[in-house]
Amino acid sequence: MCGIVGYVGNKQAKPILLDCLSRLEYRGYDSSGVAVLDDNIKVYKDKVRVGVIQEKCPQLSGTLGVAHTRWATHGPPSLVNAHPHLDCTGRFAVVHNGVITNYQSLRKSLTAEGHKFISETDSEVIPHLIEKYFQDSIEKAVEDAIAMLDGSYSIIVLSEDASKLVVARKNSPLVIGIGDDEMFIASDVPAIISYTSKVIYLEDGDVGEVTRNNVKITRNGEETKRETQHITWGREDVQKAGYEHFMLKEIHEQPRVIRDTLVENDLLSTRLTISKSVESLSIIACGTSYNAGLIGEYIIQELLGIPTITAIGSEFNHRRTLYPGEAIAITQSGETADVLLAMKKLQSAGIKILAITNVQGSTASRIANRTIYIKAGPEVSVAATKSFVAQLIALYQLVLLHPDIDTEIRDQLAVDLQRIPITVEKVFDLEPQIMDYSRYLSEHDSAFFIGRGINYPIALEGALKLKEISYIHAEGYAAGELKHGPFALLYSGVPVIAIVAQDANHDSMVTSIKEIKARNAHVMALVDENDDSLDDLVDVVLKVPHSHSLLSPVVNTVPLQLLAYYTAKLRGCPIDFPRNLAKSVTVE
Ligand code: BG6
Repeated sequence: MCGIVGYVGNKQAKPILLDCLSRLEYRGYDSSGVAVLDDNIKVYKDKVRVGVIQEKCPQLSGTLGVAHTRWATHGPPSLVNAHPHLDCTGRFAVVHNGVITNYQSLRKSLTAEGHKFISETDSEVIPHLIEKYFQDSIEKAVEDAIAMLDGSYSIIVLSEDASKLVVARKNSPLVIGIGDDEMFIASDVPAIISYTSKVIYLEDGDVGEVTRNNVKITRNGEETKRETQHITWGREDVQKAGYEHFMLKEIHEQPRVIRDTLVENDLLSTRLTISKSVESLSIIACGTSYNAGLIGEYIIQELLGIPTITAIGSEFNHRRTLYPGEAIAITQSGETADVLLAMKKLQSAGIKILAITNVQGSTASRIANRTIYIKAGPEVSVAATKSFVAQLIALYQLVLLHPDIDTEIRDQLAVDLQRIPITVEKVFDLEPQIMDYSRYLSEHDSAFFIGRGINYPIALEGALKLKEISYIHAEGYAAGELKHGPFALLYSGVPVIAIVAQDANHDSMVTSIKEIKARNAHVMALVDENDDSLDDLVDVVLKVPHSHSLLSPVVNTVPLQLLAYYTAKLRGCPIDFPRNLAKSVTVE
């Protein structure tokens, strides 16, 4: 996905646009650009990150402008493919987030009408369509242009009309921040939270005319009202607050995030639960959220006895048979295309969907029948950490609130869940040991993470974190499965990280580790602080604070996040913005 911003107000636009844009780099950062209305539209863009634009961009004066940071979908990162894109006359500059699926046919017909294209992008058709339809109203030209578009878009249009910017959205988020004699437009709240906490979320099909002191929204030409909402996040939420990287800050925020999600969310206020006696549940998610889904699947089956499957969004979309019952969509951003497509497929089959998301007003929250908003606050680092843990807490609460759970187990888990923030806080005492082990791990190009039962998804998540930010080829595996093939990859000294919980899988984990040690692998074991049984068996033991075994995934994931962080740091990786990745991929 990409990040787009717009400004119209009483101050110089360029510095504000670039400051807002810098807070959207988690959405994409392979190229960026800015356009400001001076005596005419002036553009500066390149295959560079926002910080370089801030350094290199010449003086652009004007109080109206747009800017863009890109995650390439159509056409490689390059100057010509960077946004803003212009029409032939240079009177319209457009920044776009989304995918125009019919851009080839539009480009062909526009070319036949004499339009000249210079980029390989889908987005460039938009300014040319606006130019084609423009007569005397920019908002009318935008309405006519977007009527030709298939796919998804959130756009901000800068024209030579010095009073306004025009915006539109379909299946791609756009928010307008209301200031004092100035307006801020952005793909997501973190971009503008430093300037205002009053926002309007646009809906699909909205076209907005934004001047410095007014927002007029129309749908199919009819004016409509959108309520102003107040964001509770603060300026500090989108700054590093003294940490070297957003990822480390967000890992350390987890005790507070757990506490916030425990004490205040839609579950508790509306007693939202999975329907009683539902036939089965389908959990749909991608990436780290998929690993959260696997934990949800485990505890729902274990504690409620409801048949549950977890499906990767992109795989689910090609399935012919849907399970009966209900569905849960887990998506931190609420914008992951693979999940949204699956949600629409479920919706058209009449299956009720509960969304668990971190972003108010996200597309997933609009498709779902019911939504649980986790309280993770803005997560800037591309690798999900605090949002993952908040998703787990919401899933535990969902199960604990369900009428079919055994009351004794419920009461015990509820007490232990309240202790989890303190338990996670204690994990940070292990940071020196984790930093020490990361030195060993950072010298290897492959690694295994193994677990069983409820901690198997944590092995997957530990491997994913390491892959994402250190670029080490890490595999998460069910411990019992390693002997069926992957053993061939074990070489002397290969790092194996084993998660050994105090549960029914403990002894079989020890057996797996003995088999692995017999092949001279180097094993680091995460064990409960009261467990000394592996001290003489493995190379490194990390004693993790005790918790209820069913809650151990929440505690075990934190050392693995820190391990990935310190390993990536030793390898000199960018950490918050890993190569080729984006915070949420809004294309298939
Ligand atoms: C990926 C992100 O693009 O999308 C991951 O890099 C994330 O961190 C995955 O887990 C799913 O995102 P979401 O927003 O659907 O949870």
